[in-house]
Amino acid sequence: MELKLSTNLVWHRGTVTRHHREERSGYRGAVLWFTGLSGSGKSTLAHAVEQRLFLEEYRSFVLDGDNMRQGLCADLGFSLEDRTENIRRIGEVTRLFAEAGIIVLTAFISPLQADRERVRKLLAEGDFFEIYCACPIEVCEQRDVKGLYKKARAGDIKEFTGISSPYEPPGAPELELDSGLMSIEDSVERVMDLLIAKGVIPMPSRMCC
Ligand code: ADX
Repeated sequence: MELKLSTNLVWHRGTVTRHHREERSGYRGAVLWFTGLSGSGKSTLAHAVEQRLFLEEYRSFVLDGDNMRQGLCADLGFSLEDRTENIRRIGEVTRLFAEAGIIVLTAFISPLQADRERVRKLLAEGDFFEIYCACPIEVCEQRDVKGLYKKARAGDIKEFTGISSPYEPPGAPELELDSGLMSIEDSVERVMDLLIAKGVIPMPSRMCC
C-alpha cells in the first residue's frame, strides 16, 4: 500500500507534556503488544489485564483486531500488505496513547516480525512490551471459538494465519506465555510482574520494604 505523504506540516507541541501527565498519575504510559495466532488468547488476556489495571486505578485501554477492523481499519483485508498497514495504523494509535500516559494493550495477530519491530522503533525507548501468546495451532484450531479454522480448512477463508498465511513468532519478546496451558489468572500475574519490573507501575505497597 503506497502512502501519500503530506507536506508543509509543523508538529504542534502542547504545553502539557507526557512528563506532566505521568508525574501526576504516578505511572508510565506503555504499550503491551500481545501477538499470537487467532484463538491463542490475546484478546481474553488483554481484557483480563485491563480489568486488573482498572481495579487498581490505572488508566488503560484495549485495542482489539476484530474491533479495529470494523472502524479505523475497515478498508483493510488480510493480504500481508494490508496486515502491515493495519499494524502501522495501530502502532500510530498506540503512540498517542503512550503520549497520553495511558497503558494501552493491543490484541492483533500481527504475524510479521518486521511489522512489530517497526512499531517498537516508532515508540519511545522502553515503551513497547511484546507479549507472545504462544499457543500451538492444534489447540487454537480445537478451540475454534469463532469457527474460522473450520472455514479456513474448507477453503472458505483465504490467507488464514497459520494455515495459508505465515505467522512469525517473536525472537525475543519481553514476555512469552504458554497460553495453551496457563490459566488467565497466572498470565495476568505475569504481565503485572512485568509492568512492575520495568517500572511502568510502582510496586504495590504491601510488597515493598
Ligand atoms: S492482523 O494479522 O492484521 O494482525 P488482526 O488481529 O487485525 O490481524 O485480525 C485478526 C482477526 O480477524 C482474527 O482473530 C479473526 O477473527 C479475523 N480473521 C478474518 N479473516 C482472517 C484471516 N484470513 N486470517 C486471520 N484472521 C482473520
